[in-house]
Amino acid sequence: MKKITDYIEELVKPAFEKAGYDPDYGKVNLSNRPDLCQYQCNGAMSAAKAYHKAPFMIADEVVELLKYNITFEKIESVKPGFINITLAPTFIADCVKKMRDEDDYGFEKTDNPRTIVIDYGGPNVAKPLHVGHLRAAIIGESIKRIARYAGHKVIGDVHLGDWGLQIGLIITELGKRKPDLCYFDESFEGEYPKDAPFTMSELEEIYPYASSHSKEDPEYLATAQTATAELQAGRRGYMALWKHIIDVSVADIRKNYDRLNVEFDLWKKESDAQKYIPDMVENMKMDGFAYESDGALVVDVKLPEDKKEIPPCIILKSNGATNYETTDLATIIERVKLFDAKEMIYVVDKRQELHFEQVFRCARKTGLVDDDTKLVFVGFGTMNGKDGKPFKTRDGGVLRLETLINEISDAVYDKIMENRDMEETEARHISEIVGVSALKYGDLSNQATKDYVFDVDRFISFEGNTGPYILYSIVRIKSVLARFASEGGNIDECDNILPPANDSEQNVMLTLLKYNDVIEQAFNDNAPHRICQYIYELSEAFNSFYHGNKIIAEENIDRKRSWIALLVIVKGVLEQCIDLLGFEAPERM
Ligand code: ARG
Repeated sequence: MKKITDYIEELVKPAFEKAGYDPDYGKVNLSNRPDLCQYQCNGAMSAAKAYHKAPFMIADEVVELLKYNITFEKIESVKPGFINITLAPTFIADCVKKMRDEDDYGFEKTDNPRTIVIDYGGPNVAKPLHVGHLRAAIIGESIKRIARYAGHKVIGDVHLGDWGLQIGLIITELGKRKPDLCYFDESFEGEYPKDAPFTMSELEEIYPYASSHSKEDPEYLATAQTATAELQAGRRGYMALWKHIIDVSVADIRKNYDRLNVEFDLWKKESDAQKYIPDMVENMKMDGFAYESDGALVVDVKLPEDKKEIPPCIILKSNGATNYETTDLATIIERVKLFDAKEMIYVVDKRQELHFEQVFRCARKTGLVDDDTKLVFVGFGTMNGKDGKPFKTRDGGVLRLETLINEISDAVYDKIMENRDMEETEARHISEIVGVSALKYGDLSNQATKDYVFDVDRFISFEGNTGPYILYSIVRIKSVLARFASEGGNIDECDNILPPANDSEQNVMLTLLKYNDVIEQAFNDNAPHRICQYIYELSEAFNSFYHGNKIIAEENIDRKRSWIALLVIVKGVLEQCIDLLGFEAPERM
């Protein structure tokens, strides 16, 4: 379905043309003065310059041609030359009906589907998931759902960090604590045990210990580096340990992501890309892109127009080791090879922007991707505490994701139980759903690049621009519909949409009609926050309509049914939107 502004432009543009002006001046926007009109066209202002005429004269001529059109309740020219447009209530109602009757509420899927790989989450095995990985998971999941809704073939990849020094550190520390394990015996030729020689909580203790120890003890660090290199060279016992580390961690990571409604199509790891590296390096050398500089192998990626310094992309370090860049480049090769990816979107901390700039440039320059493959970096800001510094626990440590979700869900539970009694299991179930939505909405409602303050009290509030407020609106609609049904009404028979009876109803309708435009923008800009803005606006419009009208008590049966039909659409749109954001509404709350 066309956007409302397109429908209006289809009338305004020809009017410009008929009056003797370029039709392109007939562009129509949402009004920025909703108190005066709903839509506006400012084309006469720019046309005035081109045609050396007073803008209001042009606006007058155009309006003259349109003023009897039944689409408009009112169209007028306003000095110095704006055209203000108010749609006829019947036209609005017809559009809402059309929207309801079309697939996806009139949002048009692409007719040119691309394969898009979305790289998000990016947790590192052996280290517990922490709030730093929260944003990647939440934002990436939503971007994935939006792209899929837009009709593309989308593959979400968790891209686990499993190939770095953290593994060498754990192996080293484990070797000190349990030197007798067969994994450390180089002459061992038997089969390694199926069960890991550690639990997740042990791993969680070992890693931070080894990491901080390595910072004080250069010898320890050197041992860990050697262990990492030996692992990467394929030492049997270390490979077996590494597999245990992955299995134990992944089980824990999955549990957390499940709770957050985050699902990946692929559980690929940095190590999976390693096999593409030797050929890649060889080709880069052969094609003359890679050259030696201070012992390292690098590819220049700076461009004459650069305003800031872009250092060369390091392909091999001076000791011959690969690094983060090498792995990301090889992963691009893999994604093209295995999935024929035409777009790759990386949802990663914005502090990694330079890394991706280098990798993208290098991939293009060395021909790893063709010209029409899109490489997109969606960088996100930091989640801060109320003190404006990166979020930490009360004792100053990094908070575990699990603890964080528990805290939010408990806070919601207390709130629900404050004013009433609810059966324990149901209350816990609802608290979890509402808590997760509070957390996700609190994050997604901010533009991704911006830092934001993590504030449980604000996030879980049932009022204001919060997840629970949106859910509350949906639940409220559900309960109105349930009452209507319980009094003998048949919701399925409520089909007709009457022209709006009052301003608040009209506002609900006009807000609904923005849907396809909003989703398109959210997709084009990889911007879930636009959907948040929209559902907040729609919830507010609905709530003021709800407070201003007695829906169930309405005596005019046609009017009542039309309202019920409208609520069904609002509910459907809100539910679709929160699904795109990655959460759901409970039956009651
Ligand atoms: N594991 C990385 C980190 O914790 C994030 C990975 C992001 N994705 C990528 N393809 N580099 O910083």
